[in-house]
Amino acid sequence: LILVLDFGGQYNQLIARRVREDHVYCEVHPNTMSLDAIREMAPKGIILTGGPNSVYREDSATCSPELFRLGIPVLGICYGSQLMAHLLDGTVETAPVSEYGKTEVEVTARGSKLFQNVSAKTICWMSHTDYIKEVPAGFTATAKTPVCPVAAMENAEARLYATQFHPEVMHTAEGKTMLKNFVYDVCGCQGDWKMDSFVKTTVAELKEKIGTGRALCALSGGVDSSVAAVLLSKAIGKQLTCVFVDHGLLRKNEGDEVEAVFGPDGPYDVNFIRVNAKDRFYAKLAGVTEPEKKRKIIGEEFIRVFEEEAKKIGAVDYLVQGTIYPDVIESGLGKSAVIKSHHNVGGLPDYVDFKEIVEPLRLLFKDEVRAVGRELGIPDYLVNRQPFPGPGLGIRIIGEVTEEKVKIVQEADAIYREEVAKAGADKGLGQYFAALTNMRSVGVMGDGRTYDYAIALRAVETSDFMTAESAQLPWEVLSTVTRRIVNEVKGVNRVLYDCTGKPPATIEWE
Ligand code: XMP
Repeated sequence: LILVLDFGGQYNQLIARRVREDHVYCEVHPNTMSLDAIREMAPKGIILTGGPNSVYREDSATCSPELFRLGIPVLGICYGSQLMAHLLDGTVETAPVSEYGKTEVEVTARGSKLFQNVSAKTICWMSHTDYIKEVPAGFTATAKTPVCPVAAMENAEARLYATQFHPEVMHTAEGKTMLKNFVYDVCGCQGDWKMDSFVKTTVAELKEKIGTGRALCALSGGVDSSVAAVLLSKAIGKQLTCVFVDHGLLRKNEGDEVEAVFGPDGPYDVNFIRVNAKDRFYAKLAGVTEPEKKRKIIGEEFIRVFEEEAKKIGAVDYLVQGTIYPDVIESGLGKSAVIKSHHNVGGLPDYVDFKEIVEPLRLLFKDEVRAVGRELGIPDYLVNRQPFPGPGLGIRIIGEVTEEKVKIVQEADAIYREEVAKAGADKGLGQYFAALTNMRSVGVMGDGRTYDYAIALRAVETSDFMTAESAQLPWEVLSTVTRRIVNEVKGVNRVLYDCTGKPPATIEWE
């Protein structure tokens, strides 16, 4: 296991993902993790992340200098490298010249384990205003740039390594090699963390833990809850009940697709309950236009419906949740402002009679969850499904939600997805969908005047959904989609493309 200690940098999850791509298991913990806890965990190596601070400020995130004397190899990255230098009595100062972006780094210590198979001059991603002016005793500088004398340093005997640049980001051309060198050659990891072994061990653990107990899962049809449900079904079969609440705000045919996989005619041996609750949701949403209010209503009604079903089932031992690793990391660390109140199953535990929560995916990243899904034989259209918000189309219909508007946005969205996929333009898209604006405008069709809705198309490229860029879809695709939507979807006479990034917009429209 490799331990990543988080000092608040923006690429922290990326470090963990890179290490796992090398088939080495890795966890991210806050920088405040105690030495005792670290000793107990006994990682084979520790990576200190970047962070926004200056090491010489009193209130900066830090760690105990003893960390470097545990005999465990350490790699400090950016802020982590400066912290290593600072805590071991080197000198860190504001750099005369800050470096930002792709920078050519010269590797001066060709024998360094960290730089095996790395070119003598290599492009690295820099982002720093402080620098290491003098390395601590026992260290040597192993790489430099014209303005940064210590682009990397090491004390090979003590197995302490540091890079001022970020090996984890793609822009560092040979960063993957450097991380691999650290993890395999310095730390001695084997690379045996693979998805088939994850499935085998997890199913065995779940079997052991749950025994003859009963479990309940709120299935949304999204990737995470689907994969969690299938893992559970492999472990305990019919002792698992999946409740799928169809709130009438799903994409076209989505409810039936979920039922086809998890229902009685599907391949999995689970109890499946589909609750068709659309009328209840539409009734509650009638006349409501304010986005946050719509979100709250949908979230609360969802819990109510789920609770009623759970009552019918009676007490269960376990509640299954599809929590994944980024949720775990995010909830444990910094708090950000509430932009939107998110709807997910996090609110359920208070309402359901159960003893314990099981979260079989809590240590996996999204792409790993998909890999597990494939390993389990879940159909591609479920495994590769793009993220879909809990409140569903409710937040893609601006203003009041009605059954008629849901139909319009479902049809437009289905056409959009079909055409984008057909043209192969979906590669690299984080999310793409249609939203129904609350705006009507004048048009002409045949010889007559129309006064109909405008559909907005959105497609974004993003890796973390915190920031996103509007994707440049091919014009032919957009015009085909536009033509089909205005011809085939009654009530629409205009199609717009959303060119806004996040920030300043958000990905969803409400
Ligand atoms: P925004 O619109 O905030 O969305 O840029 C970021 C990502 O989160 C998804 N999203 C949600 N997911 N419950 C969810 O489970 C929600 O209430 C919710 N709202 C937004 C959105 O689809 C995008 O992927």
